[in-house]
Amino acid sequence: MADRVQDPSCSIEAEYAPLIAVSAVFSSLSRGIVCLDHAFRVLHVSDRIETLLGAEQASSVVGRPVEELLGRDMFGPDGAMRVALAAGEKREGYRAFIETRDGARPLSISAAPFVPDVHGICDRRVAYIVVVRPAEEDTYSGTGAPTFFSGLIARSAAMAKVFGLIENLRSSDATILLTGESGTGKEVVSRAIHANSPHRNGPFVAVNCGALPSELLESELFGHVRGAFTSAIRDRVGRFEAAAKGTLFLDEIGDLPLPLQVKLLRVLQERRFERVGESRSIETDARIVAATNVDLRRAVAEGRFREDLFYRLRVVPIEIPPLRDRREDIEPLARYLLHRVAGRHGRDLQFSPDALRAMLDYPWPGNVRELENALEYAVSVGKGQTLQIEDLPDEIVHPRAAQSGGEELEREQTRSSEAGELAEERRIRQTLERVRWNRMEAAKELGMSRTTLWRRMRELHID
Ligand SMILES: Nc1ncnc2c1ncn2[C@@H]1O[C@H](COP(=O)(O)OP(=O)(O)OP(=O)(O)O)[C@@H](O)[C@H]1O
Ligand SMILES: [Mg+2]
Repeated sequence: MADRVQDPSCSIEAEYAPLIAVSAVFSSLSRGIVCLDHAFRVLHVSDRIETLLGAEQASSVVGRPVEELLGRDMFGPDGAMRVALAAGEKREGYRAFIETRDGARPLSISAAPFVPDVHGICDRRVAYIVVVRPAEEDTYSGTGAPTFFSGLIARSAAMAKVFGLIENLRSSDATILLTGESGTGKEVVSRAIHANSPHRNGPFVAVNCGALPSELLESELFGHVRGAFTSAIRDRVGRFEAAAKGTLFLDEIGDLPLPLQVKLLRVLQERRFERVGESRSIETDARIVAATNVDLRRAVAEGRFREDLFYRLRVVPIEIPPLRDRREDIEPLARYLLHRVAGRHGRDLQFSPDALRAMLDYPWPGNVRELENALEYAVSVGKGQTLQIEDLPDEIVHPRAAQSGGEELEREQTRSSEAGELAEERRIRQTLERVRWNRMEAAKELGMSRTTLWRRMRELHID
């Protein structure tokens, strides 16, 4: 022990011999330890942390905020682990992919507030202890602690697979097609793909292909030159150019009009495009991630989507399952989102056990987005420190068809969404007729943007 204390490469200083002993014990168990002060700055790291994360990374982080070593998801100002520790609680077995010199690797992280020893032989500045071990071999039982991945949280095996896939694609720039129901997290997943890709230092540019009429969308995507059409009073850089060296996220790709599908296919094949009104072609290196919540195969079968484009896009298909098929994720998501939503209102809230129960039992047809909205509602109605079942939106506490099983529920949902569409169609038609089909006025009256109105008219076949 004395030799190691003198060893200048040893990351623990001489006066902390007890820590060296402890870190040797943990090291034999393949675990590393990190000691933090009250401000979540790193005081000490054990040798094993160096083997886990890389020597430079481990030693240069002493004195720095721990989030630089173990990531913002857990240890940033709003990080789940930090919040728990600051509240005096311990957390065990959280998983995260942590950046190391050999790429990100899955680690299991436990942390606890440090109880000062009675003998006073430990460094008195230590406020928290973090224990880290490799988690490559971990299986996802769905009942354990959650995994954090680039702003995403989950504990289901299905999502672990998605995280693993994104991780494996780290050095790839293959085109990706994300599918999943509305609100499942397609946009956040696409951001995570970008953040873990060779293009991560470039921009992330999102385009909603369903929000604009064809001509506008074309110049939005490819740009135009002055005089290309009447309103083109100056040159305009399109999204493909804006996304140079970065990622272009094509959301609602199923809504892309057929003529633009042809153009996009060409860009994917030749990596070149032209601005509207110009013949010179421009090269693009933007990585394409497309997303859709419609069944593209059906769209292909019905002639609304080009088959060749479909296959060009789904070089790597990633499907995000609906929340009802990964119920293990509800609780960690609810806790994470509650913290985020309550934080926006400057509050700190917990769930009452029956509020949490009701959320676990609800089928969440609108997926994570519905969960987030429900919490937004509950936080604004709820008064106390604890979120009660009465604070939740009524449909969550009394789901109409939940008892009668999944199929009935699905039929119920289709029926109610069909009824909703009919009602919406009637409302839009009546408004349009009242304002003599002046779309600008109708949009204002309906409280939607002109592009949304345009899109809804198209979807509801109102012309
Ligand atoms: N695994 C996750 N971890 C944390 N937050 C999530 C996760 N999945 C979704 N969210 C949150 O849920 C909300 C909806 O996600 P997102 O916008 O990515 O869904 P979407 O699939 O693009 O939905 P839509 O089809 O309606 O556009 C966002 O606020 C997002 O941050
Ligand atoms: Mg989206």
